[in-house]
Amino acid sequence: MPHSRGVEDHLTVGRVAELAGVSVRTLHHYDRIGLVRPSARTPVGYRAYAAGDVERLREVLAYRRLGFGLREIADLVDDPATDAVAHLRRLRGLLLHQRDRAAATVTAIDRELEARAMGIRATPEEQLKAFGPQLYDSIGADYPATRRTEPRIAARVWEALGDARTVLNVGAGTGSYEPTDREVTAVEPSAVMRALRPGGAAPCVAAAAEHLPFADRSFDAAMAFSTVHHWRDPVAGLREMRRVARRVVVFTYDASDPVWLQRFWLTRDYLPEFAGLLTDWPSLADLTRAIGGRAEPVLVPWDCADGFFEAYWRRPEAYLDEQVRRAVSVWTRVGPEAEQRAVAGLRDDLASGRWAERNRDLVALDAAELGLRLLVA
Ligand SMILES: C[S@@+](CC[C@H](N)C(=O)[O-])C[C@H]1O[C@@H](n2cnc3c(N)ncnc32)[C@H](O)[C@@H]1O
Repeated sequence: MPHSRGVEDHLTVGRVAELAGVSVRTLHHYDRIGLVRPSARTPVGYRAYAAGDVERLREVLAYRRLGFGLREIADLVDDPATDAVAHLRRLRGLLLHQRDRAAATVTAIDRELEARAMGIRATPEEQLKAFGPQLYDSIGADYPATRRTEPRIAARVWEALGDARTVLNVGAGTGSYEPTDREVTAVEPSAVMRALRPGGAAPCVAAAAEHLPFADRSFDAAMAFSTVHHWRDPVAGLREMRRVARRVVVFTYDASDPVWLQRFWLTRDYLPEFAGLLTDWPSLADLTRAIGGRAEPVLVPWDCADGFFEAYWRRPEAYLDEQVRRAVSVWTRVGPEAEQRAVAGLRDDLASGRWAERNRDLVALDAAELGLRLLVA
C-alpha cells in the first residue's frame, strides 16, 4: 500500500471508527475483503483514510443499515455508472421507503390496539396481511410509487408474447409487465431493484443483458421493457435475447427520427439535455436488426398508469413532483442543474398560462405518438 504524501489529511482507523460508530475490527474486515480499502498508511503503519475512502465507507454503512449483504453492497458501490450523488439519491429513496414502511406498520399496530380495546381480535389472516408482503406492496419507494403496469401497453406486450409458456424478463426491475399466467424468470443486475421486487414475484437472476447465463433457446420468449437504453451495449444484449429465446419482445424508444426532440414538449422546451443522453444510442433499424424483427408504434394514453418519462404528456404538473421525477432515470442522468432549470421553467409557464397556450392541441388527444416502439421478432 503506498505511503501517501498528504497522509496528514487522512483520518486514522481509530478516528474513522469513532466517527462512524463502528468497531476498528469492522473496518479491518472491510479492508481485508476489499470493500473499503484505506488508500494510505501512516509512517508507523496505521491505516489512513482519505476523503474518498470515507465517502465510500459512508455509502457502505448506509446500504448496510438498509439491510443489504456485504456482497451486494460491493456490487452497488463498485457500479461505475453510479456516482456519489446518484448513490445519495438512491439511498434517500430507500430510506424514505423504510420510513413509509415503518409508518404503515405503526398505523397497523394502532388499528389493532384500537380493535383490541373494543374487544375485537384480528383473525390470524388479517394479522399476517398487516405485516406481510401485501403491506410492502401497498406503499412504495420512489420507483414502485409511480412505476407500475399500464394495462393497455401490457396487453400489447402480452399479445406479442403469443403462446409462449416460459418467458425471460430482462432488466426486470420490480417486475412490472411480467405476465402472471406464464412461467417467468427475471434478470436484473441491480441489487436495489431486486430488493424492491414484491414478495411472490417471479424468481430473479442477478445478471446483465449482455451476458445472459442461459443456454441457447432456453425460453419460449424473452421480453425487455423500458430497459434497453440502460444497457452498456444494447445490440449485444438484444442478440443475447435472440440467442436464448424463440421470440423476442422489446419496448423501447426511437431516437433515430431527426425530429424526435421536437416530438415531446418536455424535451423541446425544457430539457434539451435529453439529447445528450442518446448520442451513442443505436438507431431503431440497428435495434430491430439485432433481433431480426419489426417495430410497431405504441401510443402513450393520456392517463398512462406507468410513470415513465413520457407518461405525463397531458398532465404537465406531474413533472413538478419530485417523487415522479425520481422514478425516472433521465432526471438523475441530466444532472441537478438541468433538472432544476427545467422544472422552474415549466412551473413558471404553467402559472403564466404559457404552457397551455403552446400546447393547446394536446388537450383534444387521448393518446400521443412520442416515439415509443414495440420491437417484435
Ligand atoms: C426503467 S427500469 C425498467 C424496469 C422494468 N422492466 C419495468 O418496466 O418496470 C430499467 C432497468 O434496467 C436495469 N438494467 C440496467 N442495466 C442493465 C443491463 N445491462 N442488463 C439488464 N438490465 C439492466 C436497471 O437496473 C433497471 O432495473
